[in-house]
Amino acid sequence: MRHLIDILDLSTAEIDELIAKANDIIEHPDVYSHKCDGKILATLFFEPSTRTRLSFESAMLHLGGEVLGFSEASSSSATKGESVRDTIHTVSCYSDIIAMRHPKEGAPMVAAMRSEVPIINAGDGGHNHPTQTLTDLLTIQREKGRLGSMTVGLCGDLKFGRTVHSLMCAMSRYENVKFVCISPLELKIPDYLRQDVLDPNNIEYVETQDLEEVMPQLDVLYMTRVQRERFFNEADYIRLKDSYILDLKKLRNAKPDLSILHPLPRVNEISIEVDDDPRACYFKQVKNGRFIRMALIMKMLGVE
Ligand code: NCD
Repeated sequence: MRHLIDILDLSTAEIDELIAKANDIIEHPDVYSHKCDGKILATLFFEPSTRTRLSFESAMLHLGGEVLGFSEASSSSATKGESVRDTIHTVSCYSDIIAMRHPKEGAPMVAAMRSEVPIINAGDGGHNHPTQTLTDLLTIQREKGRLGSMTVGLCGDLKFGRTVHSLMCAMSRYENVKFVCISPLELKIPDYLRQDVLDPNNIEYVETQDLEEVMPQLDVLYMTRVQRERFFNEADYIRLKDSYILDLKKLRNAKPDLSILHPLPRVNEISIEVDDDPRACYFKQVKNGRFIRMALIMKMLGVE
């Protein structure tokens, strides 16, 4: 039995296979509509979510399976003091696969140690978010036709943004990828990414505070929300929250084939005037999220 806790739990060959499968699902959805008949997905969300939880549930329903779960910790026995370990032990008696989100970093790993069914990390604190990364990779592959040989700009909250951490880990394994990290000084990428991922793999990266200056170099621009819920004080959040607001003026010097991604939810960091620009891919990303999760659920349940 395998779990998906960290994006690096999957090899690049497996990621490429999942992307190929998702592309096939997009082309031939009917072929997949009964692949998980009789199977149950549990979604245990101890933290808010719109896209991740609903795309997991929609994915399982489109495969013919069923779903159960909770969407806030307050409606589970966590409020009575039950441990993640015991909750997972319980839910793994009622389901075939579990997607969980938790505010504590490492909680899905603890869950995996106790679970009798596969666990998928749907976001753990400011740490990792592997299935958003699969969504991002599918989107980049569909937009660009490749996953290597490109300059990827990551902009916003690179410190607490878990989607950024997982995406950098995954993309570091493809050839000739360069990162441009654009953030306020306080929200730079964590040291462990530099020490454990970028430096050992000789990945080229630069850090800057100036989005417009680097714009012309970028093939992909990954915008992120400042993660209010991870801040220790509200004053810092208010000071930093509008550091970057992408609008059409800032895109003046961007490449004509730039792909603009955002895991969503958006707060202020992309002006809505950008939504109609052909380079905006964030709502395509939303769609892709269901297809890659269908591919992942099948893989983890061993469905051919
Ligand atoms: C992201 C998350 O939860 O980390 N959202 C998502 O899953 N699509 C990004 C965010 O909340 O800012």
